[in-house]
Amino acid sequence: MTSQESIPLAQSELTQADREAVCQVLDSGRLALGPQILQFEEDLASYVGVRHAIAVSSGTSALHLIIRALGIGEGDEVVTTPFSFIASTNCILFERARPVFVDIDPKTYCIDPAQVEAAITQRTKAILAVDVFGYPADWHALEAISERHKIALIDDSAEALGSDLGGQRCGSFGTAGIFGFYPNKQITTGEGGAIVTDDDDLSEACRSMTNQGRSARNQWLQHVRMGFNYRIDEMSAALGCSQLARVEQIVEARARIASSYHEALEGIDGLSRPTAAFDGRMSWFVYVVRLEPSFKREDRDKILDGLRAAGIGCGDYFQPIHLQPYMQEQLGTKRGDFPVTEAVSDRTIALPFFVGLTDGDVKRVAETLRALLVSRGVS
Ligand SMILES: Cc1ncc(COP(=O)(O)O)c(C=O)c1O
Repeated sequence: MTSQESIPLAQSELTQADREAVCQVLDSGRLALGPQILQFEEDLASYVGVRHAIAVSSGTSALHLIIRALGIGEGDEVVTTPFSFIASTNCILFERARPVFVDIDPKTYCIDPAQVEAAITQRTKAILAVDVFGYPADWHALEAISERHKIALIDDSAEALGSDLGGQRCGSFGTAGIFGFYPNKQITTGEGGAIVTDDDDLSEACRSMTNQGRSARNQWLQHVRMGFNYRIDEMSAALGCSQLARVEQIVEARARIASSYHEALEGIDGLSRPTAAFDGRMSWFVYVVRLEPSFKREDRDKILDGLRAAGIGCGDYFQPIHLQPYMQEQLGTKRGDFPVTEAVSDRTIALPFFVGLTDGDVKRVAETLRALLVSRGVS
């Protein structure tokens, strides 16, 4: 055990301007359904390059509303990835539709378009792809598939605010996209998320369902459809505006930390570093390294234990969705179904990653990891 201070896995960067923005809302007395939400939505739509943004209570509620607004329900299928955060599959199950998993590309960790196309049936209503760890999915291929089969395409960009592919920002591909603003994300609103789309009808339906099914004309006790309370509050939206105003600085600072890691981890036997080799910009969500195939899942877990014992926050991102116990029960999925996802998932290690991480922190993480790899996690 070390006497050094511990380094968390993630930490939001909050400035005086953020604090003032939230305090101004508190002073105004208008805590809900007010101007900060409208401003945040306008700023976000303009940043992403879409006509509409609807701010909501979480990335999960954003995904749920898109599935519902598209009319996806019982008997329908949505082709998606097992290598993601659980919400990207749960949103399909919320509406009793069936997630159909296909495996990922071992280099990008995003869904493999060729396998997507092979999984499409008469019942397929949508493809739900994820920009994993900030790396854009192969949107051009996925858009071509969705057009060819006349099915919707959903961009789960919860982890990729600021990433782009050929200059087009993530979130804006396909029929609709989402962002998440939990405190580990590029920008935060505490809890929060957003739907982004160019589709006027989809936007109107999502906005209404966010607010108990009220119409845009906002008759308080008139409900034109069934809805939810998935609203974000004014304090959160004010924080979102303040954070979004400096998102470019944040994305650049995160890129600098990613390149410090890249340098510090060079030449470590048994370890591969993440790459961002595509025509566009990577907005780094996390920095995830991968152990070579000779390492077993147990070795990786020992290394995670070793990092934690040295006061270094780390994570085993992601655990395959198809192996979560209730998914196995409900969908009949099992180990062996998606070998690339399983092999990647058994060997990934997410290292501490946030704007305040110093060069000294990066060096300490790299040295600790190097030593643990030499001993294969055996202390
Ligand atoms: C890929 C992905 N989708 C969806 C979500 C859900 O977002 P939230 O936690 O805001 O509900 C997350 C959150 O981490 C995510 O990483």
